[in-house]
Order: sequence, then structure tokens, then C-alpha cells
Amino acid sequence: MLNSLPLPITVITVGNKNKKAAMTASWVNQLSWSPPYIGVAIYHSWYTLKLIREYREFAVHLVSSDLVEAAVRIFGSMSSKKVDKFKIARITVVPSKRVKAPIIIKAPIVYECKVIKILKIGDHYLVIGEPLVAYRNNDKLPVILYDNVHKIGDLIKVYQKNPNKM
Ligand SMILES: Cc1cc2nc3c(=O)[nH]c(=O)nc-3n(C[C@H](O)[C@H](O)[C@H](O)COP(=O)(O)O)c2cc1C
Repeated sequence: MLNSLPLPITVITVGNKNKKAAMTASWVNQLSWSPPYIGVAIYHSWYTLKLIREYREFAVHLVSSDLVEAAVRIFGSMSSKKVDKFKIARITVVPSKRVKAPIIIKAPIVYECKVIKILKIGDHYLVIGEPLVAYRNNDKLPVILYDNVHKIGDLIKVYQKNPNKM
């Protein structure tokens, strides 16, 4: 039943030009309003977590439809330790505004965060970040993971057609 929670799809980036990592994360949530904290739950052995511990900062990118395939097949399946996911996905990155992490220019919304705390929660680590800056790169709609991938807004249509589905 945990799979029934509607979740965002994001790509987390960390590192700098020479040493970087990126992974898809759906276990991402707002944790506090003031200060504005974001939490990302990351499995203990992912390389992205290792670099987040090292750099103490990261960027969260919301994913739009045109990034879903790369988010699932590349950023969400391969290991940054072994491959350059940005190269494989042919994703253009630009320098960030406040942190060192590479920024995916195609992503509609970006939060550049500094790490506040990392807590062990069950078999994951909850990385708590404070956005230093948040901005839009374009007007594309982010997607939501619920049973399948949906554009925000489309889930309401799914529900109206079949209320038992939710
Ligand atoms: C849609 C989707 C959502 C995911 N969400 C998470 C998540 O929230 N936390 C996590 O630890 N792994 C998540 N993963 C798995 C990681 O993205 C995946 O294991 C990745 O290859 C780790 O990369 P790294 O070792 O380069 O850090 C998700 C994968 C997909 C496809």
C-alpha cells in the first residue's frame, strides 16, 4: 500500500564539474515552512549520498514529461560511481547559482540546498536541506508518480473518470 502514495519525481545532483553524481528520487518532501526545509530519503549505498556527505549541498530538480525517460532509465537505474549519467542522457548542465552541484537546465523547477542534517531512518538516510535559492527554468509541468507517471493536473482527470482508483 505504500506504493499508493502520490510522489514527485525529482533528480538530485551533487558535486562539481569534475566529480559529480545524480540520482532520481521520489521520496522528497517539504519538512518545515520556516525555515523552509526539504527532506530526501536516500538508500545508504547510493553514490549520490556519499557525495552529499562530502559536499554538504545538493540540488533538487523537478522532472517534466521530457525528462521522465532519463530519470527512470538513467538517473534512476545506473550508478554515478560507474558512469557519467549526464553524458549518457545527453543532458546539458549549467553552473548553479548558490551551490556547486550541476544544474539540469531542462528541469522546470530547481531548489539549490545546503545540508542541515542527515538522519538514519530505517534503511534510508533522510537528507534535510535548506533551499538557498529556488527558481523556474521554464513553464513545463512537473510529473507525479501514482501508479504510473502523470502530469500534475492530469491526476484529477484520472480520479474523475475512476474515483475507486485513488
Ligand atoms: C522513479 C524513481 C524514484 C526513485 N526514488 C528514490 C528515492 O527516493 N530514494 C532512493 O534512495 N532511491 C530512489 N530511486 C533509485 C535511485 O535513483 C537509483 O538507485 C540510482 O541509480 C542511485 O544512483 P547513484 O548510486 O548514482 O546515487 C528511485 C528510482 C526511480 C526510477
